Amino acid sequence: MYKPKQISDNVYYVGVNDRDTALFENLWPLPKGVSYNSYLIMDEKVVLIDTVDINFADLFFKKVGAVLGDKTIDYLVVNHMEPDHSGSIELLLMKYPNIKIVGNKRTAEMLEGYYGITENVIIIEDGDELNIGVDDLKFYLTPMVHWPETMMTYLQGSKTLFSADAFGTFGSLDGGVMDSELNPDKYWNEMVRYYSNIVGKFGTSVQAALKKLSDVHINTICSTHGPVWTLAENIDKVLSLYNKLSSYDADNGLVIVYGGMYGNTEQMADVIASAAAEHGVRDIVVHNTSKSHISDIISDIFKYKGLIIGSATYNNKANPGIDAVMSALKNSGLKNRHFAYFSGHTWADGAKRELKAFAEAMKFEPICEPAEMKQSICQTASDSARVMGKAMAEALGC
Ligand code: FEO
Repeated sequence: MYKPKQISDNVYYVGVNDRDTALFENLWPLPKGVSYNSYLIMDEKVVLIDTVDINFADLFFKKVGAVLGDKTIDYLVVNHMEPDHSGSIELLLMKYPNIKIVGNKRTAEMLEGYYGITENVIIIEDGDELNIGVDDLKFYLTPMVHWPETMMTYLQGSKTLFSADAFGTFGSLDGGVMDSELNPDKYWNEMVRYYSNIVGKFGTSVQAALKKLSDVHINTICSTHGPVWTLAENIDKVLSLYNKLSSYDADNGLVIVYGGMYGNTEQMADVIASAAAEHGVRDIVVHNTSKSHISDIISDIFKYKGLIIGSATYNNKANPGIDAVMSALKNSGLKNRHFAYFSGHTWADGAKRELKAFAEAMKFEPICEPAEMKQSICQTASDSARVMGKAMAEALGC
């Protein structure tokens, strides 16, 4: 029933789409779904690269069976142990009990911890190779991209990199699997949202992985989520995007994030945005924390160099939505941003105090004095908001 999906001479796609789950990792919205990608390499030895979320095991095994015919699987390479990829391993071992599992020392610890698996595990080290017949696999350990056991597997003959979560995106594969057979435009923003929320904290580790891969000639990237990248321009774009995001570089735009109750904080945000636009900033995104999902806010903050946060005071603290954004950013390792903040209060300015503490914690030197208002936006507050918009435009080189 399932027509095997061939990626190259000896590589087949056996992944699945998830259009059911509302929140990835029970945290991140999936408006366009997600795919859990797995691949079969059909050489003299048969190699499966990763599995899929256990909720999709039935379909997964049908796809695997359609490629295998009367063959069996010799090796399972586990590039990543997060359960969206390792979840079907126990069932896989029931169906194919003679499989040898290939991973590193940290993989082995997690195989035992998650699934009680201790036998038939081959431990590899960084740079090790495994002959599978005509072709060879080479293993690159890429710890903390974004788990400690994460590694990548390179099929040397076809120059195919099985990259685990790296270079992956949210978004189901609606028809095509390879970028050559789909329009990749729907995936770029979702790649940034995936990276910034899930991998973003580990920029240094991503940089180390990119350095390790810098001499590896890559014709195809097979990630565990989203399209298979085969076109040279897309491979360049994906690698450049990862390099940019992991070095906390960004585009020349502005994100204004605000949280308030009765519209005064929003008015300040709009005055700042207007002033920034008047002075030449063209990419401006204004987020209301009560409406925008935090994953979209964090994604845009990773995308743009300018960041302004505004908060009304609530219970003598920052607005709870702003508090969540500040907490996420403190945990993200974000750097290299032009930053300013503004606050509002009715009788005590707790928001200003917390925004100041946030700037210090992030080591952000504000580009101008904070703007503030008491109760509603007066001429003085409006003037300082306009100064902030202009200062941001200048900081962004407009
Ligand atoms: Fe797609 Fe880190 O799991």
